[in-house]
Amino acid sequence: MLNNRNIQFVILAITILGLSSCKPQSGEKNEDKFALTPLNYAHKISAKIDSLLTLMTLEEKLGQLSQLNNAGDKHIDSVTINAIRKGEVGSLLINRRNFYSIEERNFYQKLAVEESRLGIPIIFGHDVIHGFRTIFPTSLAQSCTWSPDLVEKGAEVAAREAAAQGVDWAFAPMVDVARDPRWGRIAEGYGEDSYLNAIFGAAVVQGYQGADMSATDRVAACMKHYVGYGAAVGGRGKQFTDISKRTLHEVYLPPFKAGVEQGALTVMTAFNDINGTPATAYTYGIREVLKKEYGFKGFVVSDWDAVKHLLWHGIAADTTDAAQLALNAGVDMEMKTIFYKKLKEALAEGTVAIETIDDAVRRILYVKYKLGLFNRPYVKKDNTKELFLSAAHRKEAREMAAASMVLLQNNNNVLPVTATTKSIAVVGAFANERDVMGWWKSTGKFEDVITAFDGIKSNASNKVAVTDKIMADTDIIIACLGEPSHYFGESRHRADITIPAEQVEFLKSLQKHNKPIVLVVFNGRPLDLSNVTELAQSILIAWHPGSETGNALADVLFGYHNPYAKLTASFPRSVGQVPVYYSRRNSGNPNGNKYVDLSGEPLFPFGFGLSYTTFEYSALEIEKNKIPVNGTLKLSAIITNTGDKDGYEVVQLYVRDLVGSTTRPVKELKGFQKIRLKSGESKRVSFTLSTKELAVLNKNFEPVIEPGGFHVWIASNSTEGLQGEFEIVE
Ligand code: GLC
Repeated sequence: MLNNRNIQFVILAITILGLSSCKPQSGEKNEDKFALTPLNYAHKISAKIDSLLTLMTLEEKLGQLSQLNNAGDKHIDSVTINAIRKGEVGSLLINRRNFYSIEERNFYQKLAVEESRLGIPIIFGHDVIHGFRTIFPTSLAQSCTWSPDLVEKGAEVAAREAAAQGVDWAFAPMVDVARDPRWGRIAEGYGEDSYLNAIFGAAVVQGYQGADMSATDRVAACMKHYVGYGAAVGGRGKQFTDISKRTLHEVYLPPFKAGVEQGALTVMTAFNDINGTPATAYTYGIREVLKKEYGFKGFVVSDWDAVKHLLWHGIAADTTDAAQLALNAGVDMEMKTIFYKKLKEALAEGTVAIETIDDAVRRILYVKYKLGLFNRPYVKKDNTKELFLSAAHRKEAREMAAASMVLLQNNNNVLPVTATTKSIAVVGAFANERDVMGWWKSTGKFEDVITAFDGIKSNASNKVAVTDKIMADTDIIIACLGEPSHYFGESRHRADITIPAEQVEFLKSLQKHNKPIVLVVFNGRPLDLSNVTELAQSILIAWHPGSETGNALADVLFGYHNPYAKLTASFPRSVGQVPVYYSRRNSGNPNGNKYVDLSGEPLFPFGFGLSYTTFEYSALEIEKNKIPVNGTLKLSAIITNTGDKDGYEVVQLYVRDLVGSTTRPVKELKGFQKIRLKSGESKRVSFTLSTKELAVLNKNFEPVIEPGGFHVWIASNSTEGLQGEFEIVE
């Protein structure tokens, strides 16, 4: 006799069977004659999710909305284990430094899949920001390569290593546009420009998810932190942000839109208060813009404890209030705290509707499907040993690290170190520093890191003496200084953004040797270098380069890699200038952009970086000076390598909209190309600009292409270049 409970189990069995035949493992040939074609796959997913939903109790639904963590780095406690068995844990994470062993992860997954009533798999999340075990340069450093292809490959390596250990979901890319270097997390995004953050964020999404995120070497990406986190007053993160709707839509939102368009299926809300509404309760941004306007189909997760923070922000009276505010605003999953259990009460009180809960569950199950977790919940084999820090992965990390290093000064062409150099002294606080993997080093280990000294020594020719002391016969001093990893990152804001004073004193002490000095800076954020430019002939920004620090540094110093990196965040002359960025408005007083005691321009501007060769820009050609509203414009210039070394040049395209229905920035980056030129070689570099890329948000925030005049530059950085003009005509 089939009683009600049996019927439930029959439905359950059909559902699970259906789920498990849902999608073959990527790379496995699917013999199943009922193979899901892309056409019906999406339909079948939603049908299966709906049927699963009908079986779920309220506790199981609320469980899917909860991401729990171990207490610290310890194993999961018995309370969580019981909750998993009851199907009340949707996701697990540990913290930014640790992830589960494969055994642990499979153990917890087995509790969910084989011991809970419905067997819904857990999604395991981790901060894979710029590497998992092989650590790449910090994200801001990576953006200075102006190479989305490199950044995508770096994300692929990180995904491969992370997925091998059982990470399903990486809490990256962070695409918070940042223009305040006091903010500790400026190091974690892709600089001051919205367009570049969009490009690099999309590259990371592609690198993490690939064409099919259910493949065994892919992870789900997470666009974060939604939204405007980088606008924190005084650079003090998690604080109030006063963001006009125009700045929100012109600067902070576009990178998230680009990530969603690239296929990102999770978004993490930020800690800041946006004009009086904390991001975790930001209904307008989450429901109106992200889910409705951008058509976001994945799920939104809060940041760590951020639902609880609604109490501290002072907009939630109690935990139930905090839970309903966040869920109703569109936050589908709660990280770390378990206030969402209180939604049961909110449901009873009528402040939350079951449909809202069901929509959140549906979104989470959808992502678990897309990840293939229903048919591949376990890590089946351990190939971490051959993957972690493999020669191929180290090679990628080394190439990216070298490509991210920005040469800001090179007086008398002290660099690259020449063959006549017989003795190099490598000194300073960072000469033997292994903690150069940034704040988000995931499972990277200090012993993995090639230090600056070791890298220079092992890559120098055997005719060159590399010492840690300055001798009478020392030919060149490499002074390695910078910011320790705890000087930047989360809640690591600085009011003084110079190189730590004791290190500057050390640099001053080197002057007495009367030797050429190369200052190598290991920094997280843009720094005020105005007090050291006279203390070294050359200044190389190395950032925190990761596992391959020393090898990459040697490649640049010895000229094996001719630097082409360019700044994606301005380096101010003084913290008193902050915020200072290239795409400022002109304001009504063009001469007003300066102080009585200081210029208004940064010391080193956006887009700036030197090479060991030189490039000349000439022969700007603009196809026509009038283009129709829906037209395109071709423009080009000749770039010549006028130096004696081959090298890459990042050619940049900027525009200025001279008259608009609202004021427009004095410059906006609209394109770039990285070209390689042999010494003496010339190449005509062409861009095609569509008027769509020149659309502005009118007073009603609708994108419109407005007729009118434009200036345009093909340039080597944001302060110079070949200037032309054109007009959009009705
Ligand atoms: C942190 C960070 C966020 C990170 C999360 C999990 O507070 O703000 O970027 O992904 O918690 O570690």
